[in-house]
Amino acid sequence: MCEESKKRVLSCIQPSGMLTLGNYLGALKNWLNMQDEFETTFAVADLHAITVRQEPAKLRSQIYSTYALMLALGLDPERSTMFIQSHVPEHAQLAWILSCNTQFGEMARMTQFKDKSAKHADNINVGLFSYPVLMAADILLYKPDYVPVGADQKQHLEIARDIAIRFNRLYGDVFTIPDAYIPKTGARVMSLQDPEKKMSKSDENLNSWVAILDDKDTIIRKFKRAVTDSEGGIYVSEDKKGISNLITIYSAITGKTSAEVENEFSGKGYGDFKLAVGEVVADELGPIKQRYDQIITDKAELERLFREGAERAERVARKTYFKAMKKVGFVL
Ligand code: TRP
Repeated sequence: MCEESKKRVLSCIQPSGMLTLGNYLGALKNWLNMQDEFETTFAVADLHAITVRQEPAKLRSQIYSTYALMLALGLDPERSTMFIQSHVPEHAQLAWILSCNTQFGEMARMTQFKDKSAKHADNINVGLFSYPVLMAADILLYKPDYVPVGADQKQHLEIARDIAIRFNRLYGDVFTIPDAYIPKTGARVMSLQDPEKKMSKSDENLNSWVAILDDKDTIIRKFKRAVTDSEGGIYVSEDKKGISNLITIYSAITGKTSAEVENEFSGKGYGDFKLAVGEVVADELGPIKQRYDQIITDKAELERLFREGAERAERVARKTYFKAMKKVGFVL
């Protein structure tokens, strides 16, 4: 495909701790596939991370490790623009302009704000409130056609679109209106201990989630302990959320349909199935961990890559930002 005809895609991920199998199957694996078809931009959203309290040393190491993990997954800094959000000051700058064009009431409706402020009642800061405006800036600076987002971020993408449409109408065309990208494959992975809940690294039950960087034994152990039911059959059903979740994971990794997975394991016991799921997961994540362990030791190379990424990103971001500045009446 010729470069100019490629559609643009942008997404970001927060550097807040260990990334899970849920992040991998729900988002990151798709980023990888998109590199061929689209012009891709991926960032580590460190500015977003401080909307909840972070320990500085830990945050610093998580920014490095998130970037290293993106590389280990196979994202390629030659083909994708890969950078750290705070290195491109236009994100925060455009967020200010957009803030002044966003209504208090629009932000107050955001369900994630309501959830997070209930969870962090001692730190309901203004950044947590205006977080979707910063996310709108992240997106709009790069004029993407598509933004791959999970269900929990859909409302934020909607707001980004609303902000862009309103800005364009008021000041003239600056922003492209992005669409949500719904990947062909993209799994919603649930907790291994309570399949009613999404898999989450903040879950206190460590057996409920698998980290991308877990070793093989840990992965197998967690799958062996996965909660199922007492009925016995291996098939997708509303009444069998645990087994359905394991089928989802197995199909997302192997590319097989649920029906194929059901066939493959028909007549088999839960023990065998859990072990098989654990094994395909461990085999998929193993090489990623191996690459990660090597990449993370070369800090100088990591820094070179994310600095270069930031320069490349800023060349694009600056153009959009200057255009927005001019439109609102600022002097360049
Ligand atoms: N808010 C997103 C999350 O918590 C991360 C994010 C920040 C993002 N900026 C973005 C995602 C821009 C997509 C596009 O998961």
